[in-house]
Amino acid sequence: MKSNIHCSEDAQQIALKRLPKLISGFVEGGTGREVGVSNNTAAFDRIKLQARVLRKVDPRSTVQHFLGQEYSVPFGVAPMGMCNVVHPRADQFLAKMAITHNIPLGLSTAASTAVEEINAIAPDRVWFQLYLVPPIDHAMSLVDRAEAAGCKTLVLTVDVPQISRRIRDLQNGFKMDFKIGLRQFYDLATHPVYSLRMAWAGRPQPAHFPKTGAKFDRTASRALADWEFLLNLRDRWKGQLILKGVTSIPDAVQIKDIGADAIWVSNHGGRQLDSALAPIDILPQMRKALGPEYPLILDSGVRAGEDILKALVCGANFVMLGRPWLYAIGAEAERGLESLREALTFDLSAAMAQIGVKNFSEITNENLALFLDAIEK
Ligand SMILES: Cc1cc2nc3c(=O)[nH]c(=O)nc-3n(C[C@H](O)[C@H](O)[C@H](O)COP(=O)(O)O)c2cc1C
Repeated sequence: MKSNIHCSEDAQQIALKRLPKLISGFVEGGTGREVGVSNNTAAFDRIKLQARVLRKVDPRSTVQHFLGQEYSVPFGVAPMGMCNVVHPRADQFLAKMAITHNIPLGLSTAASTAVEEINAIAPDRVWFQLYLVPPIDHAMSLVDRAEAAGCKTLVLTVDVPQISRRIRDLQNGFKMDFKIGLRQFYDLATHPVYSLRMAWAGRPQPAHFPKTGAKFDRTASRALADWEFLLNLRDRWKGQLILKGVTSIPDAVQIKDIGADAIWVSNHGGRQLDSALAPIDILPQMRKALGPEYPLILDSGVRAGEDILKALVCGANFVMLGRPWLYAIGAEAERGLESLREALTFDLSAAMAQIGVKNFSEITNENLALFLDAIEK
């Protein structure tokens, strides 16, 4: 069957129709008034690329080397908790895409499928993401588990010292152990395909937490992760260590000095601080402060192939997307995911041709047509 997804907005629109509000609100929502969510995408729209002509732009390569590995494209999947609430096999679909197309996949502490299973599907593509949720012994046992499963890259997320309120989740009654009241019953009953599929598969559970004992408490403080913890973690984890959720330049400099292998500039897709800077707006200054060689990842608000190119032009080495993948799965399962990946790859390559580059090492500041105030500072 042909896909109806030609861009991430298609995926979003179809997913919003097919998923109950309970689930679409969890994926789409941000914190506060969701000003941060819209600002993330608006910030990309403000950036303009400089078209060039009469250059030899064939053949082009979208291959990107990052942290000692070669990937087919400079983009991948940001870690997201409980993906299987969107579709019972969402994590497996993402892992299959990661291995088939050689792209990295972030696997959350709060994932609905265990690191052993996902790493077996996509060896050498899985970046395990750590939240320091209490109890600390259990959280640290996950680091050992990820290592034993074969993960070589650990992502410590540091922008959730306390999970922020997401108004849509409160309105829709989304909780880890949600109860089906009248509102949820109506919501589920009016989305019978989704509801029957999920009823058949069973309710997804956080796979890195046992059913008894160290239960996953989504609202518990994660402020145990501090500078001292980072020093200890750097000592303990011998693989690649990435710090995710950084938008402050002084923090970034300190993290680099401690020896993290990369920084992931992100505001959690506007889910934590409504008035946070859009990561793309801070990226050029971040690049300047950390030097030309230091590995930088960017996410939050990336929706199109051209956005990926904009992020690379502004100083990122790698770009991640969150919600668009879940929209694609919610809309058309595996077929939707494939369609979105293809669209992003094609548009990225076409945009490279437009700005006159054949590969990412040819990118310079001059590919930017418009320097924003935020970028010039
Ligand atoms: C449904 C959902 C769950 C998420 N769960 C996590 C998580 O468990 N760990 C984490 O580091 N980030 C998590 N994030 C944030 C993403 O990794 C990423 O930073 C964000 O989605 C990027 O913004 P975008 O959705 O605009 O692409 C989650 C985001 C969404 C939408």
